[in-house]
Amino acid sequence: MTTSYTNTLALLFLALLAVVSAGPVLKRDVFVPPVTYPREGTVWKAGSKHNVTWDVSNPPKQITNNKGMIILSKGGILQDLDDPLAENFNILDGRHEITVPDVAAGDDYAIVVFGDSGNASPDFTITN
Ligand SMILES: *[C@@H]1O[C@H](CO)[C@@H](O)[C@H](O)[C@H]1NC(C)=O
Repeated sequence: MTTSYTNTLALLFLALLAVVSAGPVLKRDVFVPPVTYPREGTVWKAGSKHNVTWDVSNPPKQITNNKGMIILSKGGILQDLDDPLAENFNILDGRHEITVPDVAAGDDYAIVVFGDSGNASPDFTITN
């Protein structure tokens, strides 16, 4: 009984240690801003304009690449990589206006915001 309790504590401690030590390494230069809009339940009409937003409240001190890019994804597959919805804006802006492309209607679209690395919104719907 005592042993397993001690083991549990030791495991917990190790898990915490792993989180704490992994944090700063990731945070040093990889900025993966969480997308805050569009979110689950969002419906966009093809051709309309919207501000994609993402959380910039916790950026790393140094960012290796501060140029952002926004790409549409459908069913988890990035669409039109050669023609992003937006690019070359400052990733620390936290917002960028895009025009919804004239794509087929669907409820498995997501917006991916790339800084150093990509971060996808939840799936949302595009209608036309
Ligand atoms: C996006 O945000 C900017 C700044 O707040 C605002 O001027 C613009 O009208 C917004 N665009 C849309 C489509 O809401």
